Amino acid sequence: MIIIDGKAIAIQIKKEIVGEVNRIVAEGGKRPHLAAILVGHDGGSETYVAGKVKTCEEVGFKSSLIRCENNITETELLNHVIELNNNPDIDGFIVQLPLPKHISEQKIIEAIDYQKDVDGFHPVNVGRMSIGLPCFVSATPAGILELLKRYNIETSGKHCVILGRSNIVGKPISTLLMQKAYPGDCTVTVCHSRTKDIKNYCLNADIIIAAIGVPEFLRGNMVREGAIVIDVGTTRIPSSETRSGFQLKGDVAFEEVAPKCSFITPVPGGVGPMTIISLMKNTLLAAKKTIY
Ligand code: GUN
Repeated sequence: MIIIDGKAIAIQIKKEIVGEVNRIVAEGGKRPHLAAILVGHDGGSETYVAGKVKTCEEVGFKSSLIRCENNITETELLNHVIELNNNPDIDGFIVQLPLPKHISEQKIIEAIDYQKDVDGFHPVNVGRMSIGLPCFVSATPAGILELLKRYNIETSGKHCVILGRSNIVGKPISTLLMQKAYPGDCTVTVCHSRTKDIKNYCLNADIIIAAIGVPEFLRGNMVREGAIVIDVGTTRIPSSETRSGFQLKGDVAFEEVAPKCSFITPVPGGVGPMTIISLMKNTLLAAKKTIY
């Protein structure tokens, strides 16, 4: 059994990005510039955005954080988006989700210039991804593909079972893994809250991607010998043992499942560190105008 070390791979990719940035700057180019809009004070969102800003510094990007209060109107938020769309110094930007209930997330996402949509959430990027055209691929699915690639995991002809059908993870990773590509060429099954007998699908899987947000959903008796398990879960559980006051729990009962696996990602230290690094890679692509 091999524990996939997302933290180590992320450090390796970080070094590759630093090298690229140094080369761009040495040739007289400008530093890539990522902006983030953060609405309100949700603990999870604050942590994620702080991580993104910190990683920008570490790889030599410029970053800008636009903070808005929870009572911002949809029109005011749209104006921030339009400003970033029109600002030539900004290569890419994200609007951290979730947004307050009175704002339509879809309306905001669709207002983002798809050429600056480094989250890959805009329908143009989602549509292009689904037909295999160059586009910004959202960070978590991109991070999963990168882990499969860097561990040389064979995917062709494998049966991949995806638990969860979210727009951010389940749907895009299902599309990507069925694509005629490496990683890809999988036979994909997507399971969700209405699926009957999920255990049977899982027992028939070569690769399981758990992205449902239910801590320890995938148990040892649901996984066959030699399976590859990717855990996308990041539920924050209050804990008195950590400095942050939270403990991250994955969707996989690691102690039970790991002994049966050929490869498995831990939580924390698996997919998580890859997500931010994929956003940095997308920002670099945006700055270099590689895609659009
Ligand atoms: N909220 C949870 N994950 C993400 C993400 O990848 N991007 C944005 N913008 N918001 C999120």
